[in-house]
Amino acid sequence: AKGLPIPQPPSRLFIGNAGEIDPANLPQSMWRLADVYGEIFQLDMPGGRKLVVCNNYELNNDLCDGTRFEKVIGAALKEVRALIADGLFTAYPNEKGWGIAHRLLMPVFGPITIRKMLPEMNDIVSQMLLRWDRFGPENELVCADEFTRCRLAFDVIGLAAFGYRFNNFYRENAHPFVTQMADVLLECGKRANRTGIENALRVFSAQENAANIKAMQSLCDEIVADRKKNPQPELNDLLNPMLENTDPVTGEKMSDELIRNNLCTFLVAGHETTSGTLGFLFYHLLKNPDKYMKLQKEVDEVLGDGPFEAKHVSQLPYLKFCIYETLRYMGPIATPGKHAIKPTLIAGKYYVEPSTQLVMNLKPFHHDPKVWGDDADTFRPERWMDGGFEKLPPNAFKAFGDGERACIGRTFAEQEMILAVATIFQKFQVEMADPSYQMNVKVTLTLKPNNFAIKVRRRPGRS
Ligand code: HEM
Repeated sequence: AKGLPIPQPPSRLFIGNAGEIDPANLPQSMWRLADVYGEIFQLDMPGGRKLVVCNNYELNNDLCDGTRFEKVIGAALKEVRALIADGLFTAYPNEKGWGIAHRLLMPVFGPITIRKMLPEMNDIVSQMLLRWDRFGPENELVCADEFTRCRLAFDVIGLAAFGYRFNNFYRENAHPFVTQMADVLLECGKRANRTGIENALRVFSAQENAANIKAMQSLCDEIVADRKKNPQPELNDLLNPMLENTDPVTGEKMSDELIRNNLCTFLVAGHETTSGTLGFLFYHLLKNPDKYMKLQKEVDEVLGDGPFEAKHVSQLPYLKFCIYETLRYMGPIATPGKHAIKPTLIAGKYYVEPSTQLVMNLKPFHHDPKVWGDDADTFRPERWMDGGFEKLPPNAFKAFGDGERACIGRTFAEQEMILAVATIFQKFQVEMADPSYQMNVKVTLTLKPNNFAIKVRRRPGRS
């Protein structure tokens, strides 16, 4: 009698429960099954993998006990290791490179250093706004392109994190690195959901994937080699400390390979997440005009017609909570994985072995009415205001991940999003290109609104 039985959909010969999962949209399948089975369910996947999926606050809160559970590198992240190996995002628990990079980089990702990157972030945001202005009010701006594929978040990380200009706002087609990365991430997701035999048969896509990976790694190597040859000590970026600082525990510096893996990691982990969130945020604001107007008022009161300064990052609480509410509602990372360090009972109820992959199903977890109330399915940034944020129970909000493997780029991302949205609101009036658009989600490694477009018109009197 090892705990309560865990519900499971009927299993089929050879494929187990793989038929329950849409390989092109794994999160959607997880949400659907949560609706059917409730707080927990299990799936038998190809290759003998067993998944246990946790859907409410009680169970996910328990998974955040770092003494009993730790991050697991699931099938998709294992594939991404071909590109970024022991980089922070895909490193196995206790992998040596993770420890060195984590300790060395944690202080660098703190608010003091990140504030110093504001001019570089502003440089890129201004390029975007200038471009929007030139195209005029009838031009449809596809959010995924503006914020993701080729432009804002990508260029911000390039410039702020390692002093490199991808210059995507000046190109008709994205920088080759961007396309290579999108292709690699898509292919990794597909490989993770195919059987071993199927992957072995896809010789051409494997070759193309390997070529893309090589090209991306070479560019990162070139950036590092160039910086070593031409030091730029005046730059407030991540590359300088990665080259110079030492890990306080081992006394080691980061090897060139570890630096490359992490440069590439910041681009992978940082550009789709930030831009997906911006796409979702604009969707919610445009579907809820009262929230849009409230945010407009805050931006006008705080920024007026003046330049965005470092102090403004912490002076726009409504904007910050619009971002948190967007991430709660449905963020770009949907199903982070964990496993039990030793056999244990989740929340004292469900028995799991270390070999089982545990999935934090963030959408149903972030909509648990026991924590968020009966209006959990409504977009309402106000729920975070007036102490609402402080009153949340422990581990209620995990859009940035959990514990020591939580997002190292959170301050970077929040600052970038606050800067971008505040300056867009300062200068432009935004509307949906197609007012009848309904959310449909596109999944690569992360989630984003599919084909969601906006139009922008310069506000009267704003230069
Ligand atoms: C890890 C979310 C932006 C770098 C994570 C994780 C989540 C997350 C959920 C944990 C993943 C897991 O448990 O498997 C987000 C969101 C972002 C964002 C929602 C934006 C809205 C960024 C940015 C950067 C970044 C801008 C870099 C500049 C990383 C790295 C890790 C990570 C390196 C791995 C940390 C480790 O395991 O040591 N992020 N992220 N992220 N994120 Fe972010």
